[in-house]
Amino acid sequence: AAHFSKNNPLAGKKVVVTAGPTRERIDPVRFLTNFSSGKMGYAMAQAAAELGAETLLISGPVALEVPSGVTRISVESAQDMLEAVLQEYDSADMVIKTAAVADYRPAAIAAQKVKKKDGNSVIELERTIDILKTLGEMKANQILIGFAAETDHVAQYAKDKLERKNADYIIANDVSAAQAGFDHDTNEVTVYGQGGFEKTFPNLPKTELAHELLSLITEKEFAK
Ligand code: CTP
Ligand code: CA
Repeated sequence: AAHFSKNNPLAGKKVVVTAGPTRERIDPVRFLTNFSSGKMGYAMAQAAAELGAETLLISGPVALEVPSGVTRISVESAQDMLEAVLQEYDSADMVIKTAAVADYRPAAIAAQKVKKKDGNSVIELERTIDILKTLGEMKANQILIGFAAETDHVAQYAKDKLERKNADYIIANDVSAAQAGFDHDTNEVTVYGQGGFEKTFPNLPKTELAHELLSLITEKEFAK
Protein backbone atom coordinates (compact mmCIF):
# COMPACT_ATOMS: atom_id res chain seq x y z
CA ALA A 1 0.00 0.00 0.00
CA ALA A 2 1.01 3.63 -0.45
CA HIS A 3 1.36 4.07 3.31
CA PHE A 4 3.90 1.29 3.74
CA SER A 5 7.05 2.61 5.38
CA LYS A 6 10.27 0.64 5.56
CA ASN A 7 11.22 1.97 8.99
CA ASN A 8 7.77 1.91 10.57
CA PRO A 9 6.04 -0.85 8.62
CA LEU A 10 3.42 -1.37 11.36
CA ALA A 11 2.58 2.34 11.75
CA GLY A 12 -1.18 2.77 12.08
CA LYS A 13 -1.66 -0.91 12.97
CA LYS A 14 -2.81 -2.27 16.30
CA VAL A 15 -1.02 -5.39 17.53
CA VAL A 16 -2.23 -7.38 20.54
CA VAL A 17 0.29 -9.75 22.11
CA THR A 18 -0.46 -12.25 24.88
CA ALA A 19 2.41 -13.47 27.02
CA GLY A 20 3.38 -15.50 30.03
CA PRO A 21 1.65 -18.33 31.85
CA THR A 22 -1.86 -18.29 33.21
CA ARG A 23 -2.64 -19.07 36.83
CA GLU A 24 -5.60 -21.27 37.68
CA ARG A 25 -6.67 -21.06 41.31
CA ILE A 26 -7.23 -24.13 43.49
CA ASP A 27 -7.98 -22.29 46.75
CA PRO A 28 -7.01 -18.90 48.26
CA VAL A 29 -3.34 -19.87 48.59
CA ARG A 30 -2.70 -22.31 45.69
CA PHE A 31 -2.80 -22.41 41.90
CA LEU A 32 -1.80 -24.42 38.81
CA THR A 33 0.58 -22.86 36.31
CA ASN A 34 3.50 -23.64 33.97
CA PHE A 35 7.13 -22.65 33.38
CA SER A 36 6.49 -19.83 30.84
CA SER A 37 8.74 -16.85 31.65
CA GLY A 38 6.99 -14.44 29.27
CA LYS A 39 10.31 -13.58 27.58
CA MET A 40 9.26 -14.50 24.04
CA GLY A 41 5.94 -12.66 24.32
CA TYR A 42 7.55 -9.54 25.76
CA ALA A 43 10.13 -9.67 22.95
CA MET A 44 7.29 -9.92 20.38
CA ALA A 45 5.58 -6.89 21.95
CA GLN A 46 8.84 -4.92 21.93
CA ALA A 47 9.40 -5.81 18.26
CA ALA A 48 5.83 -4.73 17.35
CA ALA A 49 6.37 -1.36 19.05
CA GLU A 50 9.75 -0.95 17.32
CA LEU A 51 8.07 -1.56 13.96
CA GLY A 52 5.67 1.28 14.75
CA ALA A 53 2.54 -0.57 15.91
CA GLU A 54 0.20 0.55 18.65
CA THR A 55 1.03 -2.40 20.91
CA LEU A 56 -1.04 -3.91 23.69
CA LEU A 57 0.45 -6.66 25.84
CA ILE A 58 -2.00 -8.88 27.70
CA SER A 59 0.18 -10.62 30.22
CA GLY A 60 -0.12 -13.39 32.77
CA PRO A 61 1.97 -13.10 35.96
CA VAL A 62 5.65 -12.68 35.03
CA ALA A 63 8.67 -10.83 36.44
CA LEU A 64 9.44 -8.62 33.43
CA GLU A 65 9.46 -4.88 32.72
CA VAL A 66 6.98 -3.50 30.21
CA PRO A 67 8.91 -2.73 26.98
CA SER A 68 8.96 0.94 26.04
CA GLY A 69 6.10 2.04 23.84
CA VAL A 70 3.95 -0.90 24.97
CA THR A 71 0.78 -0.81 27.09
CA ARG A 72 0.30 -3.77 29.44
CA ILE A 73 -2.92 -5.26 30.76
CA SER A 74 -2.23 -7.79 33.54
CA VAL A 75 -4.42 -10.88 33.79
CA GLU A 76 -4.35 -14.05 35.86
CA SER A 77 -6.43 -16.95 34.50
CA ALA A 78 -7.13 -18.28 30.99
CA GLN A 79 -10.68 -16.92 31.35
CA ASP A 80 -9.35 -13.42 32.28
CA MET A 81 -7.03 -13.56 29.27
CA LEU A 82 -9.86 -14.60 26.93
CA GLU A 83 -12.04 -11.71 28.12
CA ALA A 84 -9.22 -9.15 27.80
CA VAL A 85 -8.34 -10.32 24.27
CA LEU A 86 -11.98 -10.30 23.13
CA GLN A 87 -12.30 -6.65 24.28
CA GLU A 88 -9.50 -5.70 21.87
CA TYR A 89 -10.16 -8.10 19.00
CA ASP A 90 -12.41 -6.03 16.73
CA SER A 91 -9.95 -3.14 16.62
CA ALA A 92 -6.83 -5.34 16.27
CA ASP A 93 -4.93 -5.82 12.99
CA MET A 94 -2.78 -8.63 14.39
CA VAL A 95 -3.02 -10.89 17.42
CA ILE A 96 0.07 -12.77 18.58
CA LYS A 97 -0.72 -15.54 21.04
CA THR A 98 2.60 -16.21 22.72
CA ALA A 99 1.00 -17.00 26.08
CA ALA A 100 1.23 -20.49 27.56
CA VAL A 101 -2.46 -20.75 28.39
CA ALA A 102 -3.49 -23.48 30.84
CA ASP A 103 -5.48 -26.20 29.09
CA TYR A 104 -7.25 -27.17 32.33
CA ARG A 105 -8.38 -25.45 35.50
CA PRO A 106 -9.78 -26.80 38.77
CA ALA A 107 -13.51 -27.51 38.24
CA ALA A 108 -14.20 -25.62 41.48
CA ILE A 109 -12.17 -23.06 43.45
CA ALA A 110 -12.33 -23.81 47.18
CA ALA A 111 -13.38 -20.74 49.19
CA GLN A 112 -11.20 -21.80 52.12
CA LYS A 113 -7.69 -23.22 52.21
CA VAL A 114 -7.91 -26.96 51.54
CA LYS A 115 -6.67 -28.99 54.54
CA LYS A 116 -4.55 -32.06 54.06
CA LYS A 117 -5.88 -35.51 54.84
CA ASP A 118 -4.33 -38.96 55.08
CA GLY A 119 -3.79 -40.70 51.77
CA ASN A 120 -3.88 -39.51 48.18
CA SER A 121 -5.98 -36.70 46.82
CA VAL A 122 -7.45 -35.75 43.45
CA ILE A 123 -8.24 -32.34 41.95
CA GLU A 124 -10.96 -32.46 39.34
CA LEU A 125 -9.98 -30.41 36.29
CA GLU A 126 -12.11 -28.96 33.52
CA ARG A 127 -11.00 -27.64 30.13
CA THR A 128 -10.38 -23.93 29.64
CA ILE A 129 -11.57 -22.24 26.44
CA ASP A 130 -9.05 -22.25 23.57
CA ILE A 131 -8.49 -18.52 23.02
CA LEU A 132 -6.69 -18.82 19.68
CA LYS A 133 -9.33 -21.20 18.32
CA THR A 134 -12.08 -18.82 19.44
CA LEU A 135 -10.32 -15.93 17.66
CA GLY A 136 -9.89 -18.09 14.57
CA GLU A 137 -13.62 -18.82 14.45
CA MET A 138 -14.45 -15.09 14.75
CA LYS A 139 -11.73 -13.87 12.39
CA ALA A 140 -12.47 -10.90 10.12
CA ASN A 141 -9.27 -9.34 8.71
CA GLN A 142 -6.98 -9.90 11.68
CA ILE A 143 -3.68 -11.71 11.18
CA LEU A 144 -3.61 -14.48 13.80
CA ILE A 145 -0.31 -15.85 15.03
CA GLY A 146 0.00 -18.74 17.45
CA PHE A 147 2.98 -20.35 19.12
CA ALA A 148 3.50 -24.04 19.73
CA ALA A 149 6.04 -25.57 22.07
CA GLU A 150 6.48 -29.23 21.27
CA THR A 151 8.76 -32.01 22.44
CA ASP A 152 8.15 -34.26 19.40
CA HIS A 153 6.51 -34.38 15.94
CA VAL A 154 6.98 -30.58 15.80
CA ALA A 155 6.04 -30.02 12.14
CA GLN A 156 3.01 -32.31 12.24
CA TYR A 157 1.59 -30.81 15.45
CA ALA A 158 2.28 -27.23 14.32
CA LYS A 159 0.56 -27.72 10.95
CA ASP A 160 -2.35 -29.38 12.71
CA LYS A 161 -2.73 -26.34 15.05
CA LEU A 162 -2.55 -23.98 12.05
CA GLU A 163 -5.60 -25.65 10.49
CA ARG A 164 -7.53 -26.48 13.66
CA LYS A 165 -7.31 -22.91 15.02
CA ASN A 166 -7.67 -21.12 11.64
CA ALA A 167 -4.42 -19.24 12.36
CA ASP A 168 -2.34 -17.46 9.70
CA TYR A 169 0.95 -18.56 11.24
CA ILE A 170 2.14 -20.98 13.88
CA ILE A 171 5.60 -20.38 15.27
CA ALA A 172 6.85 -23.71 16.57
CA ASN A 173 9.77 -24.55 18.75
CA ASP A 174 11.22 -27.82 19.86
CA VAL A 175 11.49 -27.44 23.62
CA SER A 176 13.57 -30.59 23.85
CA ALA A 177 16.38 -28.70 22.01
CA ALA A 178 19.10 -27.15 24.16
CA GLN A 179 18.87 -23.40 24.78
CA ALA A 180 15.38 -23.03 23.38
CA GLY A 181 11.92 -22.44 24.75
CA PHE A 182 10.81 -22.00 28.37
CA ASP A 183 12.90 -19.60 30.39
CA HIS A 184 15.83 -19.42 27.97
CA ASP A 185 17.05 -16.11 26.52
CA THR A 186 17.39 -17.68 23.09
CA ASN A 187 14.99 -19.62 20.93
CA GLU A 188 15.01 -21.68 17.74
CA VAL A 189 11.80 -21.79 15.72
CA THR A 190 10.12 -22.74 12.46
CA VAL A 191 7.27 -20.62 11.13
CA TYR A 192 4.40 -22.45 9.40
CA GLY A 193 1.90 -20.47 7.32
CA GLN A 194 -1.06 -21.08 5.04
CA GLY A 195 -0.37 -22.54 1.60
CA GLY A 196 2.54 -24.64 2.84
CA PHE A 197 4.72 -21.69 3.90
CA GLU A 198 7.61 -22.81 6.10
CA LYS A 199 10.76 -21.00 7.29
CA THR A 200 13.27 -22.07 9.91
CA PHE A 201 15.30 -19.57 11.93
CA PRO A 202 18.63 -20.31 13.59
CA ASN A 203 19.07 -20.13 17.37
CA LEU A 204 18.90 -16.42 18.24
CA PRO A 205 18.36 -14.19 21.26
CA LYS A 206 14.59 -13.86 21.75
CA THR A 207 14.64 -10.08 21.15
CA GLU A 208 16.43 -10.50 17.82
CA LEU A 209 14.30 -13.47 16.81
CA ALA A 210 11.09 -11.57 17.61
CA HIS A 211 12.21 -8.73 15.36
CA GLU A 212 13.00 -11.14 12.50
CA LEU A 213 9.70 -13.01 12.90
CA LEU A 214 7.58 -9.89 12.96
CA SER A 215 9.47 -8.29 10.07
CA LEU A 216 8.90 -11.42 7.98
CA ILE A 217 5.17 -11.58 8.74
CA THR A 218 4.72 -7.82 8.30
CA GLU A 219 6.45 -7.95 4.93
CA LYS A 220 4.27 -10.86 3.79
CA GLU A 221 0.99 -9.40 5.07
CA PHE A 222 1.20 -5.62 4.86
CA ALA A 223 3.87 -4.72 2.29
CA LYS A 224 1.73 -5.74 -0.67
N1 CTP B 1 -3.89 -21.40 23.19
C1 CTP B 1 -4.96 -20.58 23.50
N2 CTP B 1 -5.86 -20.97 24.46
C2 CTP B 1 -5.72 -22.15 25.10
C3 CTP B 1 -4.63 -23.00 24.78
C4 CTP B 1 -3.72 -22.58 23.81
O1 CTP B 1 -5.08 -19.50 22.91
N3 CTP B 1 -6.61 -22.50 26.03
C5 CTP B 1 -2.95 -20.93 22.16
C6 CTP B 1 -1.57 -20.66 22.68
O2 CTP B 1 -1.47 -19.33 23.16
C7 CTP B 1 -0.70 -20.89 21.46
C8 CTP B 1 -1.46 -21.94 20.68
O3 CTP B 1 -2.81 -21.92 21.18
O4 CTP B 1 -0.61 -19.73 20.65
C9 CTP B 1 -0.91 -23.32 20.78
O5 CTP B 1 -0.86 -23.68 22.14
P1 CTP B 1 -0.48 -25.17 22.52
O6 CTP B 1 -0.53 -25.35 24.00
O7 CTP B 1 0.77 -25.54 21.79
O8 CTP B 1 -1.69 -25.96 21.80
P2 CTP B 1 -2.94 -26.74 22.34
O9 CTP B 1 -4.02 -26.56 21.31
O10 CTP B 1 -3.28 -26.35 23.73
O11 CTP B 1 -2.49 -28.25 22.25
P3 CTP B 1 -1.55 -29.15 23.25
O12 CTP B 1 -1.23 -28.33 24.48
O13 CTP B 1 -2.39 -30.36 23.52
O14 CTP B 1 -0.33 -29.44 22.41
CA1 CA C 1 -1.83 -26.39 25.51
